[in-house]
Amino acid sequence: MISSGNSQDGPEPYGPADGIPAFEARLTRHRRSAQVARNHLREFLQRVPGGRALAGDGQLVLGELVANAVVHARVSPGREIAIRFEVVCDHLRIEVHDASSEKPAIRRTADPEDMSGRGLYLVEALSLEWGYGPRPEGIGKIVWALVSPKGGAE
Ligand SMILES: Nc1ncnc2c1ncn2[C@@H]1O[C@H](COP(=O)(O)OP(=O)(O)OP(=O)(O)O)[C@@H](O)[C@H]1O
Ligand SMILES: [Mg+2]
Repeated sequence: MISSGNSQDGPEPYGPADGIPAFEARLTRHRRSAQVARNHLREFLQRVPGGRALAGDGQLVLGELVANAVVHARVSPGREIAIRFEVVCDHLRIEVHDASSEKPAIRRTADPEDMSGRGLYLVEALSLEWGYGPRPEGIGKIVWALVSPKGGAE
């Protein structure tokens, strides 16, 4: 389901991973940034109790969201992408910030033959919830997803 994202979304904070500080980084708009982001997530989850259960789906979701920010958020050179991860109540909240106000939209009419238009289907299938909202620190938006240790169909 698509809804407006803000830091209030998702479960109330409690659980063994409480107290692990959120991770934030800036990335350039480069095709290798999805891999760089996944490496950051893997290292972040190594510090989180129960993090292994979030790593598989989390990396797939993050990779799609960063790839979208690189490919679709067409903005002036120098505008960066930001990523943010946080574990709340044993769930992983992933945020990808970009400087474009264009909105992500699942292509409901995607044909089986289509070569693209699959990324957000994957995000929807592997996350409990995802959405987007305004970027508080500047122009653009945040696309966020909440990943459960039990998978998207919790
Ligand atoms: N960060 C974004 N900024 C602007 N538009 C976006 C963003 N993410 C997605 N979109 C829009 O939503 C559409 C669907 O995204 P989705 O990831 O499902 O497909 P895709 O990126 O076109 O193809 P694929 O992910 O299969 O390579 C995109 O084609 C684009 O128009
Ligand atoms: Mg995509």
